[in-house]
Amino acid sequence: MRLGVLASGTGTILRSIVDSGLAVTVVVVDRPCRATDVAQAAGVPAVLVERASFGAAFDRETYTKQVLTALLEHRVELVAIAGFGTILAASFFDAFPDRVLNTHPSLLPAFKGWHAVEEALAAGVKVTGTTVHIATADVDAGPILAQEAVPVLPGDDAATLHERIKAVERRLYPETIVRFARGELP
Ligand code: GRF
Repeated sequence: MRLGVLASGTGTILRSIVDSGLAVTVVVVDRPCRATDVAQAAGVPAVLVERASFGAAFDRETYTKQVLTALLEHRVELVAIAGFGTILAASFFDAFPDRVLNTHPSLLPAFKGWHAVEEALAAGVKVTGTTVHIATADVDAGPILAQEAVPVLPGDDAATLHERIKAVERRLYPETIVRFARGELP
């Protein structure tokens, strides 16, 4: 399957996908970010579909169409979200039914949303983890494909805990994408 990756951040999860041997057709980013450098270093085209606004004026529907166009121009069949900071409109998931995957830094359904690591720390849980799931219009609520627990250690802050979780994501996400593409999951 032709794989497209959506990213906004440091691109370490993207790098783990590329390093796993999975062929990535295109990377789409929503802002200038290090994920673009990771794509370029791997010889993968990176398309910047820049958000015009982060406020109330943001036109999510139009933005979603622009992301879709970038993916379809590269004939993408499967999408992997790897730390993408924009919630896409429902039309995106209609265009790729059950063909959008996401990795999330908590054991869903606990701690949905962008602040999962901070909220796990604030709740005082002793174990959190990571979840790979099929992404749907209902954010962080689609069918779960794989999960792995990660301990919260004394003295952790959001950065140390997130890094421990990401170390697992960098193994579990590529592995799960491969199994999904082979039809072994869910
Ligand atoms: C990962 O923890 C992912 O689950 C979350 O964003 C992070 C992306 O990490 N949604 P990076 O920018 O690829 O290092």
